[in-house]
Amino acid sequence: MSTDDTFYGSDFGALSTFDPEISGVLLSELGRIRSGLQLIASENMSSPEVLTALGSTLSNKYAEGYPGRRYYGGCSEVDKAETIAIERCKTLFGADHANVQPHSGASANQAVYGAFLQPGETILAMSLPHGGHLTHGAKVSFSGKWFNPVHYGVDRDTENIDYDQVAALAREHRPKMILAGGSAIPRLIDFAFFRALADEIGAIFWVDAAHFIGLVAGGAIPSPVPYADVVTFTTHKVLRGPRSGALVCKAEHAAKLDKAVFPMMQGGPQMHTIAAKAVNFKECATPEYAAYTRAVVANAQQLATSLAGHGIRPTTGGTDTHLSLHDLQGIGVTGVDAEARADAAGIVLNKNAIPFDPQKPGIASGIRVGTPCVTTQGMGLPEMETIAELIAMAVIKGDADPDSAVSQEVRAGVTDLVTRFPAYPRA
Ligand SMILES: Cc1ncc(COP(=O)(O)O)c(C=O)c1O
Repeated sequence: MSTDDTFYGSDFGALSTFDPEISGVLLSELGRIRSGLQLIASENMSSPEVLTALGSTLSNKYAEGYPGRRYYGGCSEVDKAETIAIERCKTLFGADHANVQPHSGASANQAVYGAFLQPGETILAMSLPHGGHLTHGAKVSFSGKWFNPVHYGVDRDTENIDYDQVAALAREHRPKMILAGGSAIPRLIDFAFFRALADEIGAIFWVDAAHFIGLVAGGAIPSPVPYADVVTFTTHKVLRGPRSGALVCKAEHAAKLDKAVFPMMQGGPQMHTIAAKAVNFKECATPEYAAYTRAVVANAQQLATSLAGHGIRPTTGGTDTHLSLHDLQGIGVTGVDAEARADAAGIVLNKNAIPFDPQKPGIASGIRVGTPCVTTQGMGLPEMETIAELIAMAVIKGDADPDSAVSQEVRAGVTDLVTRFPAYPRA
């Protein structure tokens, strides 16, 4: 078997014989990951150990309920996996209680609504165009259809959360729940401010830490856990676990949130994914992972600074986390064009609305870049400078044609980087 016939996480031989079409997709996706620069801020590259648990027979088991309290027989082994995952999660985040069953970040968020709000009740959250998430009350989401969202945004000058507006809206609307967190917030969030405000009006304080929880796990940024009633998160971003979700909460909310995850919002848990979360939480408790998270932040700061040097302005002036948001108006390129030009040269990033964006979301004036993947590959500060140069060349001088001279030149730079810092290195 050649190295390329060995798929990370499982024995690939049987699948490639039985189903060449799908095994071909698995291999070509691995090839795509290996050959380009992955700068999507919400993605990472899970370890072979995490992938092994994901590809295991635990996928077969029905286990509605919780360890020791299942609606199905035969749960002795999966109970062990879930108990280990819960204990590791509680220890990692210093939390009273953990629920590791949410299938995704959106599922964890649904459970929070289910636990604390009745339909029609009010939640105060960051608006989507200013960096929030669909599940924070966007009209197209259950959260905006069934609840009454009031949205805060960022200050026009600082481009950071407008804390005066948050306080004013909380006092005016007296929401039952206040939410902090989002998908495109480059700066640290003042959790103590939100806690005090929630206490003042008697609201639940919820943090959606989907994006930055990995940095918390590694100690690179402060934790929301001591402040929030509940913290939801995804496990596949900086955290580098399986594609899934989880939540931690204060002891007083444990029973309510457990019932909201199952049976209110979900059916049977995905035990293979829960086992993979357990593996991931163990990885996150290591000194290597802590060093990784510090490197993710240092790399993001360098990348933002270097892009600024090429005229690609970071909103808020930079970043404290794993991602930066860049305003392309100064270089006269739209987000959608920038994404296509970068993609043509092997650089994967996403268009993103910037605060007060004059463009429609499908066009956008910005791009969002993140360093979880390239840092997993071992790249450091010098490589961030090179990546900024390559992005600038592709976005400013290039086009969406992979065969153009500029795309080819940028791709040569990308190939050099990924050759020196391979993703999923061959044995
Ligand atoms: C802040 C935030 N919350 C929730 C989610 C939803 O996570 P998922 O895609 O796993 O449902 C995301 C996804 O990017 C997110 O950024």
